[in-house]
Amino acid sequence: MSDTTYAPSPEFAKSAHIDADAYDRMYAASIEDPDTFWKEHAQNLDWIQPFTKVRNASFKPGNIDIRWFEDGQLNVAANCIDRHLATRGEQTAIIWEPDDPETPALHITYNQLNEKVNRFANVLLSQGIMRGDRVVIYLPMIPEAAYAMLACARIGAVHSVVFAGFSPDALANRINNSGAKVVITADEAPRGGRKTALKSNTDAALLHCSDKVRCLVVKHTGGQTTWIEGRDIDVKAQMEHASPDCPARPMNAEDPLFILYTSGSTGQPKGVVHSSAGYLLYAGLTHKYVFDYHEGDVFWCTADVGWVTGHSYIVYGPLANGATTVMFEGVPTYPDASRFWQVCEKHKVNQFYTAPTAIRALMGQGKEFVEKCDLSDLKVLGTVGEPINPEAWNWYNDVVGKGTRPIVDTWWQTETGGHLMTPLPGATPTKPGSCTRPFFGIEPVILDPQTGEEQTETEASGVLCIKSSWPGQMRTVFGDHERFEKTYFSDYKGYYFTGDGCRRDKDGYYWITGRVDDVINVSGHRMGTAEVESALVAHSDVAEAAVVGYPHEIKGQGIYAYVTVMNGVEPSEELRKELEKWVRTEIGPIAKPDLIQWAPGLPKTRSGKIMRRILRKIAEDDFGALGDTSTLADPSVVDDLIENRMNRK
Ligand code: WT7
Repeated sequence: MSDTTYAPSPEFAKSAHIDADAYDRMYAASIEDPDTFWKEHAQNLDWIQPFTKVRNASFKPGNIDIRWFEDGQLNVAANCIDRHLATRGEQTAIIWEPDDPETPALHITYNQLNEKVNRFANVLLSQGIMRGDRVVIYLPMIPEAAYAMLACARIGAVHSVVFAGFSPDALANRINNSGAKVVITADEAPRGGRKTALKSNTDAALLHCSDKVRCLVVKHTGGQTTWIEGRDIDVKAQMEHASPDCPARPMNAEDPLFILYTSGSTGQPKGVVHSSAGYLLYAGLTHKYVFDYHEGDVFWCTADVGWVTGHSYIVYGPLANGATTVMFEGVPTYPDASRFWQVCEKHKVNQFYTAPTAIRALMGQGKEFVEKCDLSDLKVLGTVGEPINPEAWNWYNDVVGKGTRPIVDTWWQTETGGHLMTPLPGATPTKPGSCTRPFFGIEPVILDPQTGEEQTETEASGVLCIKSSWPGQMRTVFGDHERFEKTYFSDYKGYYFTGDGCRRDKDGYYWITGRVDDVINVSGHRMGTAEVESALVAHSDVAEAAVVGYPHEIKGQGIYAYVTVMNGVEPSEELRKELEKWVRTEIGPIAKPDLIQWAPGLPKTRSGKIMRRILRKIAEDDFGALGDTSTLADPSVVDDLIENRMNRK
């Protein structure tokens, strides 16, 4: 933690949308009179039917009900495309940078985007997709991913993007849970010079789904795939025949725009449901102010569209603002560690937004990779996904930003739709490691984890909650509103509970200290420990498993699994490899345990509850401070676990 403060330069502040005075004034206005604040900002959207009600939101137990602009109508795709055509039809909407740097980039204008999305929408209609139907998108980072999302929005279908790194089982789960009629995939996904066989993953997933599910295939690499007549449809061929006109369907403000599955502390991943109007307003407004986006800027968010960051800051936010957004198919280290910076130079990127894990990985490769590129067009640097350690912050600031570009450390969640706490680059002095202050309309509170009482002193620490609704907030868990209430509104009644721990310093700055639940953050991606555990115990050699996070130099947190094998099974290197592979196929490569320790027994209370606190300490190699172990049913298991611990510093 560092208390060095970096103030925005006066020149930057002068041309920024928001300077320090404007922030104070607008923040106060947004809290004192949210209806007026949001009503005014909602005028930035094109409404088919103007709204008369702004906000109607209750966090009351038993009645969690969140609505914004509920009697208004609009179409999200029309807001991202059609309304720009008259003034910037020939401007580039999407720059697509392929995995292979030798393949030319594509510059897709708003006119071209319009045509593609209309044709894609007509293909969906011809498959019988109607308003409210769910469409699963399992695609690489190719323009068709954006076309597919916007085509759904155009006709009122609800998309659910599944990250292309997820396994067939994880994909099947999401297709089934969402009740999707169609899955859109590609033959192969090239990344870092290697190819993932997405179509054969989809074939494997569809074995576990209704045979009514159709499969739309984008022929991207031209790689060979099996083809099932009647089920598989060649999207590009269909698009050529489809009409380039498809009317944008008027949608109610509260109609769902998309579902995105995310891990929780218990059970299966939850389908986070986002709305149309409130979500789009919030994604667009945060994109404009947090990155200080100006007309003509080139914006690059390096996330994958499989995560919420890609939804809000590759597709919806930038396109709502008529920006040029970069979509990158590859990885930061291919062909070498200067790829990010080469892409910045090549496309004259103005705002660059990435994750601490990528910064740490690149930092380890040395600054030569950055210094050989011309980064003079950069204006703002952003990070997201996990707390950024000051060392990485400083490297980002000094080596990439040459000490002159503001850094915005944006704290938010899949559930929040957009940034909740973040600096504004022309307004907020930054401190490395702090996400600083709330965005407009956001009322963060720190509660005592035991009593649930609001900590009203400036300096405080506890659990982070949000006191009142904002337009980008998730509306429900798909198909399970009760779970929505239970997860977010029942531990601390009357508040939205974020699951994060937090400290507020003497200047009122917020410092996220990490999750307080059984969720770990691996390379900026959320992983439920329960999910990895249930994958492990599904293996026939495993009797029991407990998974915790431990500090990992590059990933932030690594996955540490304690595994008890079945009677008669001998732990071995082969079994370790086998279990790693097993988890990769059950969930996906991101869930693979970094360390597996064979545990003859797990520390349990007499009532059988696993004492995770102890397992976390051992995984952190910090077993001097195990605390009270007297309530354990068999305290001796702890000695064995310590002796055979895998993470020795
Ligand atoms: C969790 C949300 C929202 C996009 C990426 C992750 C952690 C996220 C920060 C940050 C400290 C952060 C929190 C949060 N997190 N950004 N800037 N500083 N922590 O989305 O998978 O929904 O995970 O990521 O713990 O609760 P997600």
